[in-house]
Order: sequence, then structure tokens, then C-alpha cells
Amino acid sequence: MEHQDLPALAGADGTVRLPGSKSISNRMLLLAALAAGTTTIRDLLDSDDTRVMLEALRRLGIGIEALGGDAWRVIGAGGAFPVKAAELFLGNAGTAFRPLTAALALAGGHYRLSGVARMHERPIGDLVDGLRQIGADVRYLGNAGFPPLEIHPAAIALDTPIRVRGDVSSQFLTALLMALPLVGRAAVVEVTTELISKPYIEITLNLMARFGVVVEREGWQRFALAAGQTYRSPGTLHVEGDASAASYFLAAGAIGGGPVRVEGVGRSSIQGDVRFADALTVLGAQIEWGDNFIVARAPAAGKLKAFDLDLNHIPDAAMTLAVAALFADGTCALRNIASWRVKETDRIAAMATELRKLGATVEEGADYLRVTPPPALVAHAAIDTYDDHRMAMCFSLAALGGVPLRINDPQCVAKTFPDYFASFGRIAAPVIAIDGPSASGKGTVAARVAAAMGFHYLDSGSLYRLTALSALRAGVALDDEAGVAALAAALPAEFAGERILLADDDVTDAIRTEEAGVGASKVAALPAVRAALLERQRAYRRLPGLVADGRDMGSVVFPQAPVKVFLTASAEARAERRYKQLMEKGMPAKMRTLLQDLQERDARDAARSVAPLRQEADAALVDTTPMGIEQAVASVLDIVRRKLPQR
Ligand code: DC
Repeated sequence: MEHQDLPALAGADGTVRLPGSKSISNRMLLLAALAAGTTTIRDLLDSDDTRVMLEALRRLGIGIEALGGDAWRVIGAGGAFPVKAAELFLGNAGTAFRPLTAALALAGGHYRLSGVARMHERPIGDLVDGLRQIGADVRYLGNAGFPPLEIHPAAIALDTPIRVRGDVSSQFLTALLMALPLVGRAAVVEVTTELISKPYIEITLNLMARFGVVVEREGWQRFALAAGQTYRSPGTLHVEGDASAASYFLAAGAIGGGPVRVEGVGRSSIQGDVRFADALTVLGAQIEWGDNFIVARAPAAGKLKAFDLDLNHIPDAAMTLAVAALFADGTCALRNIASWRVKETDRIAAMATELRKLGATVEEGADYLRVTPPPALVAHAAIDTYDDHRMAMCFSLAALGGVPLRINDPQCVAKTFPDYFASFGRIAAPVIAIDGPSASGKGTVAARVAAAMGFHYLDSGSLYRLTALSALRAGVALDDEAGVAALAAALPAEFAGERILLADDDVTDAIRTEEAGVGASKVAALPAVRAALLERQRAYRRLPGLVADGRDMGSVVFPQAPVKVFLTASAEARAERRYKQLMEKGMPAKMRTLLQDLQERDARDAARSVAPLRQEADAALVDTTPMGIEQAVASVLDIVRRKLPQR
């Protein structure tokens, strides 16, 4: 796909499970490869950059096995790599290129390292200088100071401290520190400049320690390794969620109302980018911390506050603030971000150019950006992404300003977050919730509204019907709450166009029988069954939007839905409609029984303690008793147009 069109979005709320951290994933892979013993890594990020690292390690002779479900087994070499001559292509993965350069320079083999054109524009001179000081033989194959590189065996001398600059990228220091234990002797690294992005060094030291190597740190200037330390596998490790990726969702909560909950990072995270949540607090957002989750809500007062912040400690997540600035109440300054210029693209220039497309006034400095939001965002901007995943992810947030926009080349998100737009849709895609009693015509109306809007459609009643049918077929009593809930949780249901399949059996008609309907009404009264179906229903929320039909869509499943409609009709009208439906399908029915069943079901659904049938205070009432289908659809679409921006 060449672009991702985003509709004008009305708000953001919900829960996102984060993918694994890129910084942690690639460090753990390298350390596990160099360690003695076998390491199992759980929740490894599956993305371009980690695939680059996995492939490079395989080529270097490291045994790597996929265990399924994002778990990997790495059989450590217990020192340098077994393969002594190799050519490695490392794409645009800085977290692979820099550490591998250092490790290979100390490994005693012949290696060539290259990447994509942009990788060859990203500096590596400070690292090569550091390695040459201790005798390493690293040569430039193109421009001095930049990849591609060639490495040859050399005698390494560690008698004097290695002096390295820390003001261009902290990855040079990370690379040196991670590689030095290969030499096995005492070593000291001195940083000769201000060190940027310090929290990334903390991640490095933390992970090295888990593999048994302790670095003595004196301030941010001097790092010492005692002799004889080698990496030993800690056994099983788990990669926490990606804190930089969390920034998009937290910002969405702050901009789009929230609450948005990210799971996988929190108070106990070792990633510096969790401090992005503190920055959001400065903007007035309401933040709640758990050990392994963070929740963001909009400021109690409404609008985000303008900010002036030094963001050196969170260079990646800081990009998200540049887009959040579009929603602030004044001019915002992002300071001390010079490293942006040597990332996947020149991010300062790229950010300035694209923010201007949305109407912002932007001042661009060598190491800062000043962003003044426009009175209203420009609609239908086409945002370029410069092969930079973070540009694509950041700018998706602009749609929360109630303007449709286009993200060009959105597949660049695969670098760190292949499913980004699906996850974003889960919290930001607009939901039209259509509730109402059985046979109110909501199914037909909802499906027609979805088609008219080009939205996805969820018929939640069918999930309860499928659950009841499964129970009836499996001989599970309909009041066996745990038994039915277990069936609901694992429902092998599939919606294939108009047809509904249950474990490959076409049950489209079977779930429409009165027996299945009555059964559905019974199982729907069991709290455990409702809980089992909750996340499943929420997973239907996707871009560009969802029409969700069912009696608790607006109250429980999507309580923040920007459009809620309560569709009803008199019991008599509903009984008549159902009667007609059944006759058309050649199913025998009696009007009187149908009416009586409906009235009983209404009473049961309204009286039950879990998700009772009722009209939400913020739902628009549409009484379809006197209406035909066309008219009912038209009146719902009317409500939708009034509530959703730019439709
Ligand atoms: O809308 P329907 O007739 O297909 O629904 C079948 C049963 O499931 C009905 O008794 C109500 C129940 N149901 C529910 O409790 N919550 C939903 N979201 C959808 C249906």
C-alpha cells in the first residue's frame, strides 16, 4: 500500500498491548549470542530491525531457534562469533550496525558491514575512532566517518582508556561497552564530551549486568570494566513493551480524551522513554502509573498546555511531542534534540516540513524546533514519511484534530511496529454504537449504515447466538456459567462476508433459529460469558471505523463511542418483522408466540443485573415503529453526520 488514509477522528480510548522494545530486543540478542549458555528470550519484537539482527547473528554462526509466540532460543558462542569471515547487510538498523561493528572489530575475523543508502549517511566515525585507539583494524569503504566498513583481525591493547565522543549518538558508547568483555581484560572508556540520550546507556548497563558483566560508572564520564568478566546466560529473559511506541498511544489519550491504557511498560520499566509520560504531565495530561501499564487522559481543563522542554533524555519519544504541539494552547519549544538530524532521516527538517503542511508555523534550529499550532488544522494533508517509522506513527495523531489526512508510504512502520495502524485503529477508529431491543431492526439498519460509511460491522448478538449454539451442540448446560464462558472464550467463529462459520460449519441460519435466540438471551445473562466476549468484540474496532450493533455496545463495550443510537420499535411491530423474516426463510412461526417471546425476552434483558437493556443517557433515540428500513437508515446516518467530524 502506498498510503494510509486516516479519517477525521473523534477521540481515542481503550487498551493497547505494546510490541517488544527495539532497544532491549537487539541488545539482548547480541548479549545472548556472545554469552556462554543458552538464552530464551520472550516477547522479542518482531520487526525489520530485529530481523536484521537475527539474520546477522545467524550468518555469524550463532544458533537461533524460533520457539513460536515471539519466543526465541539463542545458543551463545561463549565469546566471539564462530564464523570468522562474513559480509553483513544491516538495512537501516542503527541498533544492529553500531554494536556489531564494535563486537566484530574485537572478534578477530574478516567482516564487511553495509546498509541502505541512508545508513551510509549516518555517522559512525566516533565509534571507529574509539576502536582504532585500542588497535582495532576498521576501514571505511566509502566516505571516511560513515559506513560501509571493513574489519580485519588485529591485536587489541587496553592499557590506556578509550576516549570517545558522546554528543552525536549514545550508541557508540553502548557498542563499545557491550563489545569490551570479548577481550577479557580490564578496560576503561572515557566520554570526552557531553553524553546525550543517557537513559539508553542505562538500558545497556542494566542488560549487561543481567548477563553477568558489571560496569563501574563514574558520573557519565568514565566507565570501567574489571578484568576477567565474561557474559553468562541468565536463562530466560523477557522483553518489556516498547516505551517509544507507547508515546503514540499516550499522546492519543492526552489529545483525544482517553483513557488510553498501554500495557507492557510502567513504573518498573528500564527504558528512559517512559519519561515521555512525565512530559505529557507538563502539557496538562492526566497520567496514571502501574508497574506494567500507563494510562493517559486529556487535561481536566480540556486543552493541552504549551511547553518549552529540554528533551535530550527522550530523543525518540520527543518526536511525538512535536505533533502533540499541534494541539497545545500556544507556541511550544522542543530543545536539545540535535541527534534527530542523524537518525532514520533528518528528523528536525522532516518534522518542520510536515507540520507546516498541517498549517503550523515552525521555526527550525540546529538543535531545536519551535511549533506554533494553527487555529485549525489543514484538512487532507498528504504527509511524507522519509522512510522513517516514527514520522508515520507521529503524524497519525494529527487526525485526532478532526481532519482527514493521508500518510504516504506507511509500511515504513515495519521497522519497529508492523501492526501500528491496527493498534492505532483499536483506540482511535470511530465507533457507531447501535443498541436496542431484539428485532428492533438494528441488525439490518446497522449493516446498511456500515456499508454506507465504508465501516466495519460487528453484529455482537451473533457472538451470543454462536456461544449458545456451541453450548447446545457440545451438551453444555446453558446455566453452566464457567462451561459456557470457556466455550465463548475459544469460539472458533469466522465471519466470511454474509456467512458465519463455526469451526468451518456454516451456521448462518442455525444461529437465527428461535432456539438459538432464546439460548443467546440466557447465556448473555452470565457475567463470565460477557467478560469472555468483551475483548473479542473490541478487536473489531478498526480503521476507518466500526458500526457495532448490540444491546450493550454503547454502555459496556464501547462506552466512549462518539455516536450512540438507541433503535427501538413497539413490541408488536418487532414481532411482525420477525414473523416476516422467518416466513421468508421458510421457517414456521406463530405471531402470538413470537410476540410473547419478545416481551418475555425484553423483560428478562431489562431486568438482568449485567448489561441490562436500556437507553444510554448520551444515545439518540430512533423509534422505527412507523419507519421503513430506508427511512431508519437515513435517520441514523443523519445522526452520524452531525456527531462525526468531516463526514
Ligand atoms: O440481537 P440478537 O437477537 O441477535 O441477540 C441475541 C441475544 O444476545 C439477545 O437475547 C440479546 C443478547 N445480546 C446481548 O446481551 N448483548 C449484545 N451485545 C448482543 C446480544
